[in-house]
Amino acid sequence: MLRPFDPGERPTGLGAWLGEIPETLFDDRIYVCCELVERYATDLALALVGRLGLAPALAAGATAEEMLAAGGFVAAFQPALTALLDRLAEAGYLARQPRGRQTAWRAVAALPAPEFAELRRLGATVDPRVGSTLDLLDAAAEAFPKVASGVATGEQELFSAGRIALWLAYFSNDNPAYALNNRLTAAVATHRLRPGDGLRILEVGAGAGSFAHALLGELDRRGRLGDVALYDFTEPSPFFRRRGERELRAAFPGLALRSRAVDIDAPLADPADAGTGYDLIVGVNVFHVARDLGASLGRAREALVPGGWLLAGECMRLFPGQTVPADLVFQLLRSFTDVQLDAAARPHHGFLEPGAWRRAFELAGLADAAVVPDLERIRDRYPRFLTGVVAGRRAA
Ligand SMILES: C[S@@+](CC[C@H](N)C(=O)[O-])C[C@H]1O[C@@H](n2cnc3c(N)ncnc32)[C@H](O)[C@@H]1O
Repeated sequence: MLRPFDPGERPTGLGAWLGEIPETLFDDRIYVCCELVERYATDLALALVGRLGLAPALAAGATAEEMLAAGGFVAAFQPALTALLDRLAEAGYLARQPRGRQTAWRAVAALPAPEFAELRRLGATVDPRVGSTLDLLDAAAEAFPKVASGVATGEQELFSAGRIALWLAYFSNDNPAYALNNRLTAAVATHRLRPGDGLRILEVGAGAGSFAHALLGELDRRGRLGDVALYDFTEPSPFFRRRGERELRAAFPGLALRSRAVDIDAPLADPADAGTGYDLIVGVNVFHVARDLGASLGRAREALVPGGWLLAGECMRLFPGQTVPADLVFQLLRSFTDVQLDAAARPHHGFLEPGAWRRAFELAGLADAAVVPDLERIRDRYPRFLTGVVAGRRAA
């Protein structure tokens, strides 16, 4: 890894691999933002080695279980610890060695000092709004020692009242590193909506509405906002839901918006709608927290009209075991780690690989399952295009 940080040039020819996705969505600025966030996450992992006192264990070589025992850390910390170690291994600072059925990590290079100030300075030059992703990573790093020692859970640390502004700034179309998820999904959705009016759209896990703004804005630009007969804006958290509803009603005053709480671990349809299905069901960075992914996808398929599309905009790891910056945040949360596994449909918790997503959609009976853009082609050219849209439809 180059130090000081140098993102290099955006890989050439990416446009041809993006297919239906306009290349403008992944321009030079977004590229540098994504690379910068990657490096910032690695530097936080470096700093956490010191804050958690892991250096002696890493010098000798140790498994995660041994590090938990040596540090007096709670078992629930293991996923976050493993994400941290994997990140440093990927960056070339640690070697992974098989130890029986476990993995041991050992330092193979001197751990350099993090370059937070330089990275923040570069971020402010390229796009100051990327700071909201760096702020959330900082908050996660602050939570690490407390979650490790068991004095607090990740939820207590990251979902406290004082952290709400951080989440709102992160899940925002003003945050370039996050907005890419929304813009991609909005593009894929508008390309798949059937022509004509009377469209019924269900969004799950809609949060405070950043994806809804992206999609409805895109439909508006295409002159199709009037085709929407129902935008079913659903989100379990009352705080985010009310805020999202308020802002959407202000931005799209004529829209037929309904706002309600829906849990993807339970049936999706409103009983009042008996007999009507959705043309589009969509969730951005939501379906990976389904407790039983296959069951949630199956219920979504049933709630579609024949020919209707299910879209999951998702942060993805492009190779098995690859870490993504968001792991440092979400591996601290039980909702992320405590899911039912299934060798075929859900091989591990957290962010899945494109092939695993496609298989999960196919096993749930969705037709024409695909990941857009084609991340399995893109990854050979650029291994950190970490977001895509899983698409599949109910057979007509
Ligand atoms: C990553 S955020 C999504 C942000 C949102 N899509 C946006 O456009 O800003 C995940 C959302 O899923 C919601 N969520 C968590 N568990 C859920 C569940 N079981 N069913 C539905 N939504 C859930 C969370 O409350 C949160 O708002």
